Formats: sequence, structure tokens, C-alpha cells
Amino acid sequence: MSIRFYEEKKIFKLDTATSSYVIEIFEQGYLLCQYYGAKIPDVNFKGYKFREYFASFSPSNASVEDHSFSADVSPLEYSGFGVGDFRKTAVAIRNADGNNCTDFRYVSHKIYKGKPALAGMPATYANTDDECETLEIYVRDKVTDAAAVLMYTVFENYGAMTKAVRIINESDKPMDIEKVYSASVSFNTMDFDIVHLYGRHNAERNMARSPLEHGHTSLSSTRGSSSHFHNPFAALVRHGADENQGEVFGFNLVYSGNFDITADVDYYECTRVNIGINPDGFTWHLEAGEEFQTPEAVLVFSGEGIGEMSRIFHRLYNNNLIRGRWKTEKRPLLINSWEAAYFSFDTDKLVSFAERAKEVGIEMLVMDDGWFGVRNSDNCSLGDWYVNEDKLPGGLGVLIDRVNALGLKFGIWYEPEMISPDSDLYRAHPDWCIHVPGRDCSIARQQYVIDMSRADVRENIYGQMKEVLSNYKIDYVKWDFNRNISEAGSALLGKEHGEEIFHRFVLGTYEVMDRLTRDFPDILLENCSGGGGRFDPAMLYYSPQIWASDNTDAIERIAIQFGTSMCYPASTMGAHVSMSRRTGFETKGNVAMWGTFGYELDPNHLTEKDIEIVKKQVADYHKYYNLTHNGDLYRIVNPWDNSYYAAWELVSPDKSEMLFTLVNMRYYHCNKRIIRFRGLDADKYYTLEENGEVYSGAFLMNAGLNVSRMRSGTGDSFTLHFVEKK
Ligand code: GLA
Repeated sequence: MSIRFYEEKKIFKLDTATSSYVIEIFEQGYLLCQYYGAKIPDVNFKGYKFREYFASFSPSNASVEDHSFSADVSPLEYSGFGVGDFRKTAVAIRNADGNNCTDFRYVSHKIYKGKPALAGMPATYANTDDECETLEIYVRDKVTDAAAVLMYTVFENYGAMTKAVRIINESDKPMDIEKVYSASVSFNTMDFDIVHLYGRHNAERNMARSPLEHGHTSLSSTRGSSSHFHNPFAALVRHGADENQGEVFGFNLVYSGNFDITADVDYYECTRVNIGINPDGFTWHLEAGEEFQTPEAVLVFSGEGIGEMSRIFHRLYNNNLIRGRWKTEKRPLLINSWEAAYFSFDTDKLVSFAERAKEVGIEMLVMDDGWFGVRNSDNCSLGDWYVNEDKLPGGLGVLIDRVNALGLKFGIWYEPEMISPDSDLYRAHPDWCIHVPGRDCSIARQQYVIDMSRADVRENIYGQMKEVLSNYKIDYVKWDFNRNISEAGSALLGKEHGEEIFHRFVLGTYEVMDRLTRDFPDILLENCSGGGGRFDPAMLYYSPQIWASDNTDAIERIAIQFGTSMCYPASTMGAHVSMSRRTGFETKGNVAMWGTFGYELDPNHLTEKDIEIVKKQVADYHKYYNLTHNGDLYRIVNPWDNSYYAAWELVSPDKSEMLFTLVNMRYYHCNKRIIRFRGLDADKYYTLEENGEVYSGAFLMNAGLNVSRMRSGTGDSFTLHFVEKK
């Protein structure tokens, strides 16, 4: 049992194999987050919560007998606004009387095996009920009759737990949720660094680390999507902890819209993390009896550094987030037409790609943007999802038959959440875009965002997609999202529901993705957003892979992939070999191999020498598939620690095999480059395939190998493959 309730002490203890999380029901039903950290056997937390406070300025509740208690300094598990806690609180609900004081207290709880789905929302799931346990704590505000269910699921084997909240209006009047975070966690120190992922288009998910300061740190998006600019991930890393040792608390939100992760240090140098929907631009109206479900937050604890935190996220996401046929089935090796042809293609050109691709062993051709409406540039036709027969004479069937006849599968590109002002759809329905009446509608990449909050719009867009996907043999869909949302309004949401637009948009997108994956379970779905602008766990629930960045330069990709790997596994990271100028094909392949792997180039432009390398890469793709898709990642040399070279390993779960890759980002002219490997079994012996030498795991991890004689030029790279010697 991973969740226990100690009746006498009024303590909930949520244990994973490596961590404990403790909640106490204190006097008057206040819930206190007493502990989160390395696993402990204790259930006695008496006095632990005690924090001296300055009574004049930190109010207390007169009905609480223990005078050491003030909401302002106590580690409240899910603190409400306006009732004595002046820090950043997790929830505020404005009631029909117009005030937004919110005070949830414990009423009851239940503990059960398994994990329920969250209505309308993507979330981690249990493969079998034995895999995890769930605690629901029912809390209530006795003044307003607002209630909430605080949901906790413990994945015991992973060192991971999830939190989500369901708000219920149990009054007979309407109320408005002004903020509702998915999780709030209290720590009784501030001796942390905060690690997060910032970026921009073509440079997504750079890692940043800085000491936590007094006051308020916030990482967020207001763009209508999780965005290139900040990922819905943050970690508190204990001072002194690093990639391989020390305490790390990782937080990731299973959500694709506006999010907020805050870390607040209070006047007692205690830290509170809140993670959830961004309250900025959010209000949700609840009529009597209605409910609101927050997205899910994933919490990971590692006592063995940042690397182990990442591996826990990876295992959890590979096993309990990604779904469907392509979770386990080997995915076809693809070539994508975008960087090969952009908008300039026709049937013959695409077939010529397929013919050449076939020769080297590529298994699927993906036709990117430009096949529909009258689209020859990015200035029109989004929303007109019918084939452009000028480019593809005879239609999709002719093209797909020719591609299939070569033995290749076929994939297609969509951008369902967008509408071009120059489109038949927009001309017919000018109110179908996201807009605010009377205001200019900002344009980005010459397109508007379609109003996914509207059922009629969703029906139309999905109807158009379904028509194509049902009538042709399509094995793969790339779902793109190429701008952010401004002038956020809908023609149908009235005043009361106006500020629901961002969240309703996200729910609408989830609904269409859900229909798509249910109706076409064999289609491999890949998400994309101007590269990696919507790389989040919610998207992984629908698509097992996401295009990581439009930047396909192998050197630039290293930082992007290192950052992405903070919480997302290699199996999800869309990575292709392209014609990008820097580095040779070998390095491009070595970098893309740490991902879904594929090509994004005109294969007719490959030289005979390139073709030989590509053939070897295709063979390696199959050889290492298991390692890249199911292996454990060890970041050996991080690009943020070393500007010369970066190195990483993928180790099979049984530690019988390891693939090491090193890439020089700059010329490295040093005769001593010792690599101490990680993640091996100290007691096993390994043969280094490249030279037949045999080493013990203990030697490789403790002494390491001098790899200085390997390639050292800028952009050069090499791999080492270790296989257990039986
Ligand atoms: C985005 C994607 C690219 C490509 C183009 C097509 O930028 O990231 O891969 O699909 O759109 O317009």
C-alpha cells in the first residue's frame, strides 16, 4: 500500500519507493503539507509545523486551540485566498455576494487502487489498477458552499505522484473561479535552485538554473499554448545537487495552454510551489451544481540528482502517458517533405522522394504543408482541407497509390486550429476565428486562430479531416500550430464566460485530438508548433512524438535535445537529419538518433557518399531502436557545462547494452579526454563493439576511458557501443 491514513494522528502518508509525502489534518480541518522528500518511515510530525510568527501581522484563527498556528506561516496543503494567508495562494473563488475569500477545510476522504480519468483532460493513466493508488480528499468552504476534491495518485515504482483538483459549486447560486492551481507544495526551507526551460522559436527549451530568492518567481505562458518561451516544467534542486547526486523535486503540468508555475519564499524562508492554469486572463463561471476539473500536475522526487529525475519522468511518460498502437509498436522511419520542397512540390516530385528513399530503406513519406486549398505559400487556405489538384493531379489517391506501390507508407500535414483570412472557410464564416468584436484581429504568419471553443467549428474542421482520413490510406498525421492567441474572444461566449476562452480553446483541441485518435487508432500522430512550441505532456497523451524544433542544425539541436530531455523521453523527441549546413551526415545522424529519427531533405540531392552513410544510419536506427525508445538516458557532458563538446548515453533497462555519443560543438585540441560512463552494472563485463576490448562496468564507471584519440574537429562526433559479455 502506497497511501496510508493514520487515523489517530490524522496523517496521510503517500509513499513511493523513494519518496514520502505527508499531509496532516490539523485542527478545524486545515490541511497541512508536512513533508515532501526522501522516503521516511515516520508518522509523528507533532511540532514540525511550528513556525513562530509575528502575531500582529500574521492573523490566527481564534477557534484554533493551538496558538502556534497562523494560516500565514503554516504549510497549507491547498490554501485559499483572503483568509489569513498572504502568500501566493492556490485557489480563489468569487461567490455570488461578490467576495473571493476561499477557505477549504477537510470533510472526508477515500483511498482506492488505480487512477480515474480526468473528464475532458489528458492525464497519466494506470495500465492495471495495481500500478498506483489514489487518494481523494473532499474539502469544503462552509460559508460559500464551494467544495473541492483534491486528487492524489501515487506511482509507487516510479518515485512519482500526480495531483489535480475538481471544484464543485454546491451552493444554489453561481460562482466564479478566479484561480485554481492543480497543485501546491510546501517546503520548510529555501535552500534550492530553480531549474527551468526557456527558449524561443528555433531555440526551444534551454536549461536555466538560478538560486531561489526571497519573493516570487513565476514561469508562465499567456500565449494560449504551452509555448516555445517557457515549458510547463520546473525543478527545485537542493543547493549542491547536480546531474548525478542530490535532491531534486520536478514539476510538470499536463496542459497545453496558459500555465503558471510559481515558487514563493515567505518571510520564514519557506518555499511554496504552485503549478496550474495561469490565473492571468482566466475566470471560470460555475452555475449551481457545476464542476471544474483542473489539469494534472506530475511531481517527481529524485534523491540521485537531476539525471534520475529525468529518467523517472521518461519511464512514467513512456509507460503511463503515451497511449495507443505506437506506444509499443515500432514506428516507421520517415522522410518529411518540408525542408526538401517547402510549398513547391507536385505528385511526381513527391514520388521521386519516395523512390530514392525506398532505395536507402526509409519506410514512410510525409507530405508536409502545401497540399490543400490553393496553398503555395503561407498566405492562404488554412481551413480549406481539400486537395489542391493543380499540384496533385487526380488527387490524393493517385499519389498515395504510387507511394504505397513502392512499399512506403504515407503521412500528411494539418494545422486544424488555424484559419487563413484568404480561405473559403473564412469567407463563409468570418466569425469562426478567435476575435474580439470591434478590435483589429492581429495576424501572425498571415493566419488567424480558429475558434476551437465552438462545437460547430470543431465539427466542421474534424469533418473535413475525417473525410480525407477515411477515404485514403493515411498512416501518419503531423498536427501543427503555428501562432499564438491574441484578442482572445469568441462570438459565442457571453460576458459571464468570456474569460473562459483560453481554456475552452484547449479543451476543444483536446476533444478533436481525442476523436481523431479514437476514430483512427492506427494513425501515428506527431504534434508540432512552429517546431517545438507545444512540447508538453498533454500533447504526448495524444501523439507519441512531437517535432522538437524547426532548427535541424545538428549542433544547435544538442542544446535543444538536452533541454527537452529534462522531462521528455527520447521516444517522443522528433529529430531529423536535414541538409542544414553545419556538420557532416554522420553527426547529423548521431544527433537525430537520440530521438524519433527520420529525414527532412531531398534525397535526390544526396551524393553517393552520403547515401552510404544514410544506409548505415538506417541500419543503426533498427539496431538501436530499443535503446532509443526504451532505454535510460544519462546526460554525460551537458552543453551548459562544457562549450566544447556534449555527450550522452542510452542504456537498456537491463543494463546489458549502452550506446554512447559524443559531439564536438567546437574544435577540441586536448590529448586527454576521460569519460566516466554511467548507468552500467558494476558487476557486468562489456565488450566495446568498435575495438573488441572488454571492460567491467565498474571500470568504465570509475576509471573511465580516455577518448581523446577519437575525432576532435568542430562538428565531429562518434559513438561507442557497449554490449554485455555473457
Ligand atoms: C511549422 C513546422 C514545420 C513545417 C511548417 C509548415 O513551421 O514546424 O515543420 O511543418 O510549419 O508550414
